[in-house]
Amino acid sequence: SDTINLGIFGGGTVGGGIVEILQKKSAHFQKLTGKTINVKKVCVRDASKPRDFTLPEGCSIVTSYDDILNDDGIDIAVEVMGGTTDAKDVVFGALKNGKSVVTANKALIAKDLPEIEKLLASLNDDTEFRYEAAVCGGIPIIRSMQSDFVGDDIKVMSGIINGCTNFMLTAMDRDKKSYDEALGQASDLGYAEADPTLDVGGFDARSKLKILIRLAYGMDVEEDEINCRGITELTKIDFEYAKMLGGTIKLLGVAERNDSGEVSAFVSPCYVTNDDPLSSVNGATNAIEVVSSNLVSSIYIGQGAGRYPTANSCINDIVALAKGDKTPLPFNPKSETKFSNNYSSTFF
Ligand code: NAP
Ligand code: HSE
Repeated sequence: SDTINLGIFGGGTVGGGIVEILQKKSAHFQKLTGKTINVKKVCVRDASKPRDFTLPEGCSIVTSYDDILNDDGIDIAVEVMGGTTDAKDVVFGALKNGKSVVTANKALIAKDLPEIEKLLASLNDDTEFRYEAAVCGGIPIIRSMQSDFVGDDIKVMSGIINGCTNFMLTAMDRDKKSYDEALGQASDLGYAEADPTLDVGGFDARSKLKILIRLAYGMDVEEDEINCRGITELTKIDFEYAKMLGGTIKLLGVAERNDSGEVSAFVSPCYVTNDDPLSSVNGATNAIEVVSSNLVSSIYIGQGAGRYPTANSCINDIVALAKGDKTPLPFNPKSETKFSNNYSSTFF
């Protein structure tokens, strides 16, 4: 058919951005893919809630998952509602019903990617699963991890992988905001998770690190094996000490494979000196350095959270599916490496 119909689960920060970009760029996408990309249905919790985006003509707001899952006219399900229970049902339901899926849901992928890949392997080749937006919002890190290191060996991945907390730390350090003011602002700007404990507790960064570890090392780590400390205990005095020492504090996610193949990882607030490039990565910007044998050091930097950066990554996935591009397969075979938590002593 000349039309690709979408069913979007979620009409919030990210879902609204996807609808807006699709409308704005519809003629361009038509030229690029030869297809009209049409949003047929948006599923939300509360249909009566006012939306901050305009629904395209003919698109209906629904509240039942089945309205999308059982609609044979819908080709792609976009899951941007969040959570790991109902979101899992809709992702699995859509794939089983022959729809490709695009999601931004790192919590779900961190938990269930092996199961999703198993299901995909049992389905026909046209059913695709893409999740570029799930790690670092607008930064195309998933695609890079899936394709650019095929002849390389990744040693270390480290950096700022949560936009909400980096926004908060910037606001607390540079703008002297209180923790509560900073969190309120991050939520208003659409950076925080529906449950901000995931951000401030470091758990969102940990989910992303787990996904990166799987892509880089072909290894499934239990999330709670990764040492994780968030920013909840930081106070003004910590920033003052960091300043006196000539630096600042950033919430970092770090994973490393040593020469014997052992992988270790942590999420923690860390002291970063002013001459470290990460010290000037502010607001909702994320930055990851990948250290590898061939490329030596590759730095990825960009907006890690927020409506348009995140929607942009989902749009890239949707357009790739409309073009018929195949999702790159992770190149790293399941490795025999062991996970060990020998990083705990480097905590801030
Ligand atoms: P959000 O603004 O809270 O929007 C969530 C949307 O999903 C809302 O429209 C909500 O409906 C709907 N929804 C939630 N639970 C539902 C349910 N059980 N049934 C039907 N609809 C439901 O969230 P968001 O910021 O767009 O984030 C969505 C996903 O993207 C999450 O997985 C998040 O981790 C991920 N993500 C977000 C960002 C970001 O910067 N915001 C970046 C990367 C990834 P109502 O509007 O009716 O309440
Ligand atoms: N809450 C997440 C963050 C959204 O702030 O990084 C993007 O993944």
